[in-house]
Amino acid sequence: VESSRRLVVLVSGEGTNLQALLSACADEAYGARVVAVGADRDGITGLRRAEEAGVPTFVVPLGAGDDRDAWNRALADRVASGQPDLVVLAGFMKIVSPDFLDRFPQRVVNTHPALLPAFPGSRAVQQTLAYGAKVTGVTVHLVDPGVDTGPVIAQAVVPVLDGDDELSLHERIKSVERVLLVETVGRMMRDGYDVDGRQVRLR
Ligand code: GRF
Repeated sequence: VESSRRLVVLVSGEGTNLQALLSACADEAYGARVVAVGADRDGITGLRRAEEAGVPTFVVPLGAGDDRDAWNRALADRVASGQPDLVVLAGFMKIVSPDFLDRFPQRVVNTHPALLPAFPGSRAVQQTLAYGAKVTGVTVHLVDPGVDTGPVIAQAVVPVLDGDDELSLHERIKSVERVLLVETVGRMMRDGYDVDGRQVRLR
């Protein structure tokens, strides 16, 4: 359906957030469709999920000695060929460059398993447990050149329970995260959003 907005989703692992978006897009009323799924590595379940849904995939590997700027350019080119209305980083574990972001201004969102600005980075759930926090949550935000520092779009709270380990807590977070991500992306695509400095308002 041409009227539907175009999503390109980037993954690095299991892809359960991607799966939630794919399932939501199956309903035309959602107003968006995943036109391509990209990854920084092959052989991950996230890519299998896209293939099963009949969505084109691409892999732009980042080798140890690779030129980071060249990688960002190649990745941006692949993403751009999907002509995305929104680029969704759903468990994508690489930092994209300012040049990458300039290709899709205010149109790259990320989901993070903590209540930013608490616990940015790739070890958020482990750090939450180590700190002894009693509540944590999920943040969907616009991506800016920093690490998990972009303007917040939506957040949801998740309790930390006695006896939680990284796996149990991350699973509880992810059960909330996929709902928040689907709701937030859907509203952004159907109704639009405004960005004023650090304030993002869903219309
Ligand atoms: C998500 O919790 C995401 O926020 C974090 O890693 C997890 C990826 O999960 N960066 P999946 O690949 O979507 O299942």
